[in-house]
Amino acid sequence: MKVKESGMPEEETWNDFFSPNHILKIMGLNKEVRDIVDFGCGYGTFTIPAARMVSGKVYAIDIEPEMVKETERKVRENRLSNVETILRYFVSDGSGLKDESVDYVMLFNILHVDKPEKLLREAYRILQVGGRLGIIHWNYDSTTPRGPPMEIRPKPEQCIKWAESAGFDSPKKYELKPYHYGIVMEKRK
Ligand SMILES: C[S@@+](CC[C@H](N)C(=O)[O-])C[C@H]1O[C@@H](n2cnc3c(N)ncnc32)[C@H](O)[C@@H]1O
Repeated sequence: MKVKESGMPEEETWNDFFSPNHILKIMGLNKEVRDIVDFGCGYGTFTIPAARMVSGKVYAIDIEPEMVKETERKVRENRLSNVETILRYFVSDGSGLKDESVDYVMLFNILHVDKPEKLLREAYRILQVGGRLGIIHWNYDSTTPRGPPMEIRPKPEQCIKWAESAGFDSPKKYELKPYHYGIVMEKRK
């Protein structure tokens, strides 16, 4: 099933909310990071800059054919050869990736999902030991220009608790102004 309240506005509007390169650097992406997964890639807002930053492959998963097509279009336009798009329901069906096969998992603007622990356990399964989980989400503030309704919008402390219960530790929290926060956690064992 699609994550509720996960539809996208027009791309131009969405792009106004972030500086993806800046955010990805803060969230720890660089050439030392190899293969990564973008769960719910949307327009490829973060997939494309991430593909330029890491040394391995980016798996970009989304259930909306339009989003997958748009991400593929940008991959071609940018002549990238390290992005694989996957049309798939990741909440019910998982990612389809192998155990301990990737270095970094991006859960960006998606953790208001119905079963966050399930998604986090899937992230834990596919990450190798020493791998990292990056979460970004809308600030818990009803004045942000978009974002899920406050009833289902997670606070950063809640995201950390969910991730800890899936096995992640060492949370680091970042302010991603103007509208987001970021959390990076590790899979230690
Ligand atoms: C709010 S958008 C975030 C896009 C991107 N992560 C970003 O921050 O720019 C959420 C995306 O997740 C996708 N999505 C929602 N539920 C999904 C599911 N169960 N399986 C795969 N993709 C899903 C939506 O189609 C949408 O493109």
